[in-house]
Amino acid sequence: MSASTDPSVTELVAVAEEVARAAGRLVHDGRPETVGVAATKSSAVDVVTAMDLASEELVRRELARLRPHDAVLGEEGGSTGGTSGVTWVVDPIDGTVNYLYGLPAYAVSVAAVVGEPDPAAWTVLAGCVHAPASGETWTAARGHGAWLDGRPLRVAAAPPLDRCLVGTGFGYVAERRRAQARVLASLLPQVRDVRRIGAAAIDLCQVATGRLDLYYERGLQPWDLAAASLVVQEAGGVVRGLRGRPAGGAMTVAGAAERVAELGVLLEELDADAPDAPSGADLEAG
Ligand code: IPD
Ligand code: CA
Repeated sequence: MSASTDPSVTELVAVAEEVARAAGRLVHDGRPETVGVAATKSSAVDVVTAMDLASEELVRRELARLRPHDAVLGEEGGSTGGTSGVTWVVDPIDGTVNYLYGLPAYAVSVAAVVGEPDPAAWTVLAGCVHAPASGETWTAARGHGAWLDGRPLRVAAAPPLDRCLVGTGFGYVAERRRAQARVLASLLPQVRDVRRIGAAAIDLCQVATGRLDLYYERGLQPWDLAAASLVVQEAGGVVRGLRGRPAGGAMTVAGAAERVAELGVLLEELDADAPDAPSGADLEAG
């Protein structure tokens, strides 16, 4: 399939938006006064709510109805195979901690990719990031553009680095956070300011919208990145890793090309993609 010319890219973005909006309605309208933690994952603060699970179930059900031959990779439910070559990469709630606390920065992220569903190997064809609390919806179709609520997006030329507003995020495990705090301490005096919004897909879409100049984060998962990376790229921005590598778990840097290159050099000098130091518990065990 030709990624940029296949007419189904337009159909895929319509499916992504329909499904993300349906899940967004469920999550937003069905949010109880007090949200409970249903389970924890990598650490005690890496939580799953009943709504993460319900949202992913809805997305899977709708995708099975609309695109029965496609595979799905979802944050909560893992991989389900398909035969069409298209995989839907889904974050049923990006920004779960915000959702837990009643903060509005959370989103449903749905993307269609071909190739391995891994940021180093995939081609993202279409994506939607829908933030139901603000009502904002970002869409992108490969080769066709990126939009916020139907308005075309272009990444603005960024100011010099010391006047850039930079978004970032942190992992859920203490050792990762220690390393991320070290990098942040060096970076913060060199930029206008830093924002930690709490939802990676929204951070990336804010770069495409000109509300952040740059974004970087270590530890992103495919579902954090899939839809929103296409939004940035189709808006004319760059999304990449360090040391010539593609964006992914080791590092993701996004923004206007020139500033991404500059921030990339700083992050490389700071070894922001270095493996985490082993924790005290690991040292004792090993
Ligand atoms: C998290 C958010 C957060 C980012 C973390 C992600 P989740 O996703 O996007 O902003 O810093 O790296 O894991 O857990 O809310 O889906
Ligand atoms: Ca999530």
